[in-house]
Formats: sequence, C-alpha cells, structure tokens
Amino acid sequence: MLKFIVISDTHIVPKNQRCNGLDSAERLNLAIESINKDHPDADFCIHAGDITDRGDIESYERFHKIIQKLKIPLYLTIGNHDHRNNFKKVFKDEYSDINGFIQNIIDIKNQRIIILDTYEENLLGEGRLCETRLKWLKNHIIKNDNLPTILVMHHHVTKIQSPYIDLISLENPNDFFNVVKNKSNIRHIITGHVHITSTTIKNNIPQTTIGGSHFTHSVKNFFTPFNYNLNELKNMKDENKISREMIDEMSKQYENIVILEGPAQYGVVFSDSISTTIHFHNYIEEYKRLPQSETKLGY
Ligand SMILES: [Fe+2]
Ligand SMILES: [Fe+2]
Repeated sequence: MLKFIVISDTHIVPKNQRCNGLDSAERLNLAIESINKDHPDADFCIHAGDITDRGDIESYERFHKIIQKLKIPLYLTIGNHDHRNNFKKVFKDEYSDINGFIQNIIDIKNQRIIILDTYEENLLGEGRLCETRLKWLKNHIIKNDNLPTILVMHHHVTKIQSPYIDLISLENPNDFFNVVKNKSNIRHIITGHVHITSTTIKNNIPQTTIGGSHFTHSVKNFFTPFNYNLNELKNMKDENKISREMIDEMSKQYENIVILEGPAQYGVVFSDSISTTIHFHNYIEEYKRLPQSETKLGY
C-alpha cells in the first residue's frame, strides 16, 4: 500500500512576521511534528504550493530550514503566492523538470504520482498549465497509461461553487481535461489553494481540495455572491487602475467572507492497485474529546 502526505498553503513569511494574524512558520512546525509522530510510515510528503505568502527569498530560506526536521522525503511545487525564480534561488533545480517548471514524477509501488506546476506570473491568483506543461503531462500519461496515476497541483481545476475563490481557479481547465479525460488510469486530482476541504467529480475523475496549513473559511459564508468578475478585475489591472494590494483590500472588505484560524489540515493518501483513499488530518483543531467512558466503538 502506498501512503503519502499532501500539505499545502503554508504561506511562510520572513522571521518575526505574521501572515493574516497567524504564525505560519509555527503552523508548519506543528504539521511536521504531526507527520513525524503520526505518519512515520508514509512513503513521502508533497507540498502542493503557496509555500510562501509573498514569494520572497527570505521566506524560502526560512521554509528550507524548517523542513529539515521532516523525516520522510519531501517533494515541492509552487502556487500563486510563490515566485518561481526566487524559489530556485534557494532550491536550485532540485524540484524542476527538464523545462524548469517545479514539477515531478514519482514512480513507486506500481503507481505514478505526477506533480504539476500551475504557477503563472502576472495573473491575479489564477493558475495556468501552458502548452509546454500540458505536453509534458501528456507524454508522461501516454507512456505509462497502465499505471494508476494521481495528480497533485496547487490550483483547483473544476469550480467548487464559491463565486470568490472560483475567480482564481485553473484558468484553462478544458486544455487540461483534453489531456486527461478518457484516461481510466487517472485516479484522483489533489489540490490546495482554496483553504477548505471539498470534493468534486468531472469527466469521471475525482478531485479533492485539502484544507491546508493557513487560515480557512466558514463554509456558511463561502458561497455568497462576489460582486466582481475576473475580466473586470483584469481590465482594471491592465489600465493600471488596480493593484494586487487593492484586490486584497477588496477581498478583505468583503465582509461576508469569514476567515477562520483553523483547523489546519493535511491529506493522508492511501493507494494501491484497486483503490485510493484520502483522510483529512487536522493537526490544529479545537474539538473537545468525548470521554472514553461514555463512548463506544461503532458508527
Ligand atoms: Fe493559499
Ligand atoms: Fe493559492
């Protein structure tokens, strides 16, 4: 049985800084402690992007230092909050493919994990798989279309019905699905980015978003209308009427989007030739344990 961990959205900032009011470095420390303690038997861990909050070198260096404590192998990709060139200044080409994208193939236990880099500069937070990346994906899927294959990337592909967060999903889902649809060996697509847990199915391929390490949202408020569409925002940006900071500000002002501290979560994936299962491990949570004397095993 293959077992691996997916962490995401650690949003590391430079030392002595907090991110959205949270100590994101300490949360990463807790994630690593939890993985080392609770899942030492996992084959590896994948970080699904938004490693840092602002893509600066200092934050990558800080992240690099913290992850030395992880006892299982780690694979990385990047998200919209990252910066590919700054990432490489710290990690060189350790996680790069032949074209320089931060993506990788892991062949293990008769299964294949494909990590995709959906980062694209100069977007407003959306992701993109360009022709080069899609070709790379296609080659690796076609060459081994008998291997059960799980895809891991930062951006969610299919909209999760949140008007706000769906503005910044993968920009070209149809191009992506043209490569993977009708491939019966594609088991699952696992992503981060949205900071909540959700499942979706499209073209018979299940998609799961992991809650991630940073803040999360109240689901109650996550699906209320948002008064901007992406083209409007892009036009405003192109005309220099809007900055990234203003977008962030507009988001903050949107008072219906309730931002919550936790739970902070990683995914635990179990997979063999027959099935794939994902557990959601909340490593920061404040649920009260019911006394064992009053509970019995059974569902
Ligand atoms: Fe994020
Ligand atoms: Fe993101």
